Amino acid sequence: MKGFPKEFLWGGATAANQYEGGWNEGGKGINTSDVMTSGSHTVPRRVTYKNVKTGETGSVAGFGPDAKIPEDCIPAVIDGEYYPSHVATDFYHYFKEDIAYMGEMGFKTFRLSMNWARIFPNGDDVEPNVEGLKFYDAVFDECAKYGIEPLVTLSHYETPINLTIQYGGWSNRKCINFFENYAKTVFKYYEGKVKYWLTFNEINCMEFAPFVAGGLSDPSPQNKAQAAHNQFVASAKAVRAAHEINDEIKVGQMLAYQPMYAYTCDPADQLMVMEAAQTSLFYSDVQTGGHYPAYRLKKYEREGIVLDTEPEDFQLLEKYSADFLSFSCYGSSTFTTHDDVDKSGGNLFMGIKNPYLETNAWGWAIDPACLRIALNTLYDRYHKPLWIVENGIGWDDKKEEDGSVHDTYRIEYLRKNIESMRDAINIDGVDLMGYTMWGCIDLVSAGTGEMKKRYGFVYVDRDDKGNGTLERSRKDSFYWYKKVISTQGKDLD
Ligand code: BG6
Repeated sequence: MKGFPKEFLWGGATAANQYEGGWNEGGKGINTSDVMTSGSHTVPRRVTYKNVKTGETGSVAGFGPDAKIPEDCIPAVIDGEYYPSHVATDFYHYFKEDIAYMGEMGFKTFRLSMNWARIFPNGDDVEPNVEGLKFYDAVFDECAKYGIEPLVTLSHYETPINLTIQYGGWSNRKCINFFENYAKTVFKYYEGKVKYWLTFNEINCMEFAPFVAGGLSDPSPQNKAQAAHNQFVASAKAVRAAHEINDEIKVGQMLAYQPMYAYTCDPADQLMVMEAAQTSLFYSDVQTGGHYPAYRLKKYEREGIVLDTEPEDFQLLEKYSADFLSFSCYGSSTFTTHDDVDKSGGNLFMGIKNPYLETNAWGWAIDPACLRIALNTLYDRYHKPLWIVENGIGWDDKKEEDGSVHDTYRIEYLRKNIESMRDAINIDGVDLMGYTMWGCIDLVSAGTGEMKKRYGFVYVDRDDKGNGTLERSRKDSFYWYKKVISTQGKDLD
């Protein structure tokens, strides 16, 4: 059996708001995740806010299409609430130890996000916070010790909260310039240390979670469309800046993508799936393909949405499209127009239960074949290098007395997903740059804010209420992944 190319970038992925902690240390400002409480599979995470006139406090579900901050209110940290991002699993203080674990597994790459508010505490500052720059400098130096190439997301659900309060979030065009300044600053500062960057994590989450993806205080359809456009232009400007600084720097797109299946062969179901897929692919059609697709322009026309654009926007989108397309893919979703089916279960895109697939405790479908399908769909559509930057399985792992964690279900899941990826490369000829398993060191779940939805190769002693020693221990999957990397994906047993 053929393995993977020699230069294949094996590794793991994290995000500052779920992993880093140190929320008020080193001059960092507050970001949108810092005002989000914890929840569960059934209880949504909430954004807390304060009325600036009366001082009254309240909250609204954060991960939804309609999270709106009421008039006269601003998102705020409220005493007595628990915010999982504030400590998370404390990469801020544990980064040396954690990167040593990554080195031990043989990681070639480590995906992390830079906390924008650590570099520009208010988002609109002219000068960066030097202490923040130094923190990531130390992180990248540590990676270099183990030959680990960083892959850095500039914005992973971490919009500085000041941009929401002062500007309403990404629906305001001013954010384009703030982001460009941020991107230029870090591209220059880390030139020679960081070659691979991503602009916005899961940019298409603007559809489903505009507060999380764009810091929007008002999620009207017009604002969401404008915010997406502004992020596209900001991404193009980031690509331009990177190439002007050093042609070796590559800036990719990051899309949440999962294949969608029709539950029946009823043509109405096929059409439903086609339209659902367009909702995500629109984002890569623009950012990676370089053009607004006709189906989206027609939708805006029907809905009376008029974008505020500048003449150079469309040239920028075409000329500075993403260098590569990265995506998250955990499983597939299934849709139907029929009522007589079990609608319980589902996943990120909330479809229906697929009778051929098992799910984890959070209802996410386990479907390794969908990775090969996703890779083929995206490669055929854009002919650009791809990178799987999130894949994995959340599980309520149990640590034994001796510190071991027997996560055979994770090994099983990863084995089949890696086989699927290997087929896409060897059978279908897809150009795949790398694979970073999500949450390589346990971290906070984005969707629920829980700790017990664990993904890592390394267990972190912390619970849903913030108790625990933060002590790290290797799971069985740690040793397995180490072997996978050292054999270039040939030995998956
Ligand atoms: C992706 C996000 O949607 O899925 C990550 O980019 C997130 O931030 C991951 O953690 C898994 O989702 P969850 O809700 O299980 O953490």
